[in-house]
Amino acid sequence: MRAKILFVCLGNICRSPTAEAVFRARALAAGKTVLVDSAGTASWHVGQPPDDRACATAASRGYDMSALRARQVEHEDFLLCDHILAMDSNNLHDLQAMRPQGGAKPRLFLEFAPDAALRDVPDPYSGGDHGFIHVLNLIEQASDGLLVTL
Ligand code: 4NP
Repeated sequence: MRAKILFVCLGNICRSPTAEAVFRARALAAGKTVLVDSAGTASWHVGQPPDDRACATAASRGYDMSALRARQVEHEDFLLCDHILAMDSNNLHDLQAMRPQGGAKPRLFLEFAPDAALRDVPDPYSGGDHGFIHVLNLIEQASDGLLVTL
């Protein structure tokens, strides 16, 4: 059966859709059949496309995020997904609080990037363009780390 992976951040418009697009592209390139999705712990941006800055940064490296739309994490996700990967410790805390019994155990995505020396993918929303490049670098690193485990 194909592994289902859910990436989670706060708004589902910057970090987790970037992770979804990057991981989907890299898994495809590696010939791994996985199901990839993303969601936010908050509902503010539900139905919206990813942030323009995240899209532009991803596009500069060939990742297309244009079809993605934000959604909120649901209880069902814990029962349907094999891996639920949080972008930061706040997301992880919120996910742990809503995890139903027997559901997938959320983890930090950067566990798969041990050389990064960071635990959290920093929230780039209120910062400048450089933050989005940093986020993309971390996500590419962790994606490769995750890929070798599948
Ligand atoms: P994300 O970034 O969690 O990586 O999607 C954010 C997006 C929106 C907000 C905060 C973070 N916001 O406050 O609306």
